[in-house]
Amino acid sequence: MDDFRAANRANWDDRVAIHWQPDGYDAPGFIADSGRISQVVTRDREHVGDIAGLRLLHLQCHFGMDTLSWARLGAEVTGIDFSEKAIAAARRLAIESGTPARFVVTELYDAPAALAGEQFDVVYTGVGALNWLPDIAAWGAVVDALLVPGGFVYLREAHPVLWSLDWKEDAADRLEIAFPYFETELPVSWDEDVTYLGSGILDHTRTYEWNHGLAEVMSALTSRGLVIDHFEEHRALEWKGHLSMTEGDDGLWRLPEGKRDLVPLMYSLRARKPSA
Ligand SMILES: C[S@@+](CC[C@H](N)C(=O)[O-])C[C@H]1O[C@@H](n2cnc3c(N)ncnc32)[C@H](O)[C@@H]1O
Repeated sequence: MDDFRAANRANWDDRVAIHWQPDGYDAPGFIADSGRISQVVTRDREHVGDIAGLRLLHLQCHFGMDTLSWARLGAEVTGIDFSEKAIAAARRLAIESGTPARFVVTELYDAPAALAGEQFDVVYTGVGALNWLPDIAAWGAVVDALLVPGGFVYLREAHPVLWSLDWKEDAADRLEIAFPYFETELPVSWDEDVTYLGSGILDHTRTYEWNHGLAEVMSALTSRGLVIDHFEEHRALEWKGHLSMTEGDDGLWRLPEGKRDLVPLMYSLRARKPSA
């Protein structure tokens, strides 16, 4: 693994304990309420459809609250992540919530080998996943390898236009393009001692992220023969991605009135691998 991703992994290791807490993703609440489905999965159900009995693989699953939400809806789930701490927490969450699941530690690009060539009906990812990956074409090859013929990938992800915006304090009142929209060889580097949810200070503060333009993401899939049958751009985000954003009653974050039609904040995409 390169130094960029090694730094990212140390940072993600640090985030696990903070995100577990009630003011983070609230793992104790998920354990206590066996009917709870995460907000993210609640929104994605419309386009993923009836999951009962399907084999679902969640890429970059963190500690698996979304993965386990799909299991609560009847899927047979596997989650992968490169953070050993995240996967240890995911296994604990599965056991303590009484939800059957399998979790595997692996770097994204090594997942087909780590899963020994196994294939899945649904590959699910997104909500801040692709920005940690240096090569979106290689990601497309991984997704293709992990899908059964006839299976589909679904992602709802931060829009590359959002990642190109300056979100620092001095840009709170304006939308300013400050970072590359397209994939670049070298990542954008950040140094932050807090995370997006929960309270607590990170020891490993340096991270590296890559943006991927919409056509780059689509081509990563279509060049492998996958067929896109759903694509949508959204005006709302799952987290506060710009200082001017406010949270709605639905838990989604939006730009101020009057600015909401200016830029897309997320996109969702479903692509199916042709039947053999
Ligand atoms: C924002 S989280 C994923 C979003 C997920 N929907 C969630 O919020 O629970 C990003 C995850 O990607 C994982 N990750 C980052 N880079 C990775 C890589 N190269 N291979 C595998 N996992 C990676 C991190 O450990 C982290 O758990």
